[in-house]
Amino acid sequence: SDPDLVARAAAAKAKLGERVFVLGHHYQRDEVIQFADVTGDSFKLAREAAARPDAEFIVFCGVHFMAESADILTAPSQKVVLPDLAAGCSMADMARLAQVEDAWDALTDAGIADQVVPITYMNSSADIKAFCGRHDGAVCTSSNAQVALEWAFAQKGEDAKVLFLPDQHLGRNTAVLELGLELADCVVWNPLKPNGGLTAEQLRDAKMILWKGHCSVHGRFSAEVVDQLRATIPGVNILVHPECAHEVVLRADLVGSTEFIINTIEAAEPGTSWAIGTELNLVKRLAKDHPDKQIMFLDKTVCYCSTMNRIDLPHLVWALESLVDGTVVNQIQVDAETEHWAKVALQRMLDLPG
Ligand code: 13P
Ligand code: SF4
Repeated sequence: SDPDLVARAAAAKAKLGERVFVLGHHYQRDEVIQFADVTGDSFKLAREAAARPDAEFIVFCGVHFMAESADILTAPSQKVVLPDLAAGCSMADMARLAQVEDAWDALTDAGIADQVVPITYMNSSADIKAFCGRHDGAVCTSSNAQVALEWAFAQKGEDAKVLFLPDQHLGRNTAVLELGLELADCVVWNPLKPNGGLTAEQLRDAKMILWKGHCSVHGRFSAEVVDQLRATIPGVNILVHPECAHEVVLRADLVGSTEFIINTIEAAEPGTSWAIGTELNLVKRLAKDHPDKQIMFLDKTVCYCSTMNRIDLPHLVWALESLVDGTVVNQIQVDAETEHWAKVALQRMLDLPG
């Protein structure tokens, strides 16, 4: 990265001192991650944001929904900055509040809303989290989806159902592989079709109602690529994120959040081979940091997460230097009503065991 920008970012951070805390998601570029005070997966970063009451500014190097969650979990006097406002998430955009409210009305009409606990993946907008808070539901991340689903099913007894937003893959993978539900217990709600494309009977029979959303990066890994790799690299370990499709996860050796992926590679024996199905910035960093292990990207045709990559060094320098000059740019602020209910759902997640 440009040495001048590196020096400027370091100088601005030094001037701000304890006033600023920089959080970096594992999918961020190397040029940005070098300035993070803490790196983590979505769950760890939410906890870290909540644990920094002394920082006046939280600069969030990640995507919009993560910065919103940080704003919700920090004190009102603390300001959360997202260095580029265009750093959104295509998966989060796949569930809009009006669509989710329509789905809830349909569940009410089918006579089952009382049995349904809505669980939203962290990768969703604050108003979806607030919806879950209002309807006795919770948030989960890829590192606690199993406990969150177990909690949800325990809320409503034998007839309990979960409406899982917005990632159908994480919902299906967790329900089938961690909770032992059948694939036939899962139905997919398509918000673009009347009544989600489902009959009232299908809704009544289902245990998991999966929102038809997916990650545009992880959704591109295929089962064929896993089979090809296994055929060409004997002994390769396949390690994937649970946002990958069910057929891919079924063929993998290990599945887990970004933090899990990092811990797995750190603990791996030298000389072992790993093909990793997650965002490319993280896989490249793991390969660089572990030259004693053979680390490769699961599918070379899959690209970076374009929105994660929007946070680059020029944007970070601009955000930090503006703070030095007394201007808060790109502040992420969730309105009070949304914040209240989203915090209820986030707090239920933070209170889960484990
Ligand atoms: P985790 O950090 O929870 O593994 O999430 C992955 C992701 O896609 C974030 O956008
Ligand atoms: Fe969203 Fe996928 Fe990018 Fe994560 S990797 S921010 S889920 S599009």
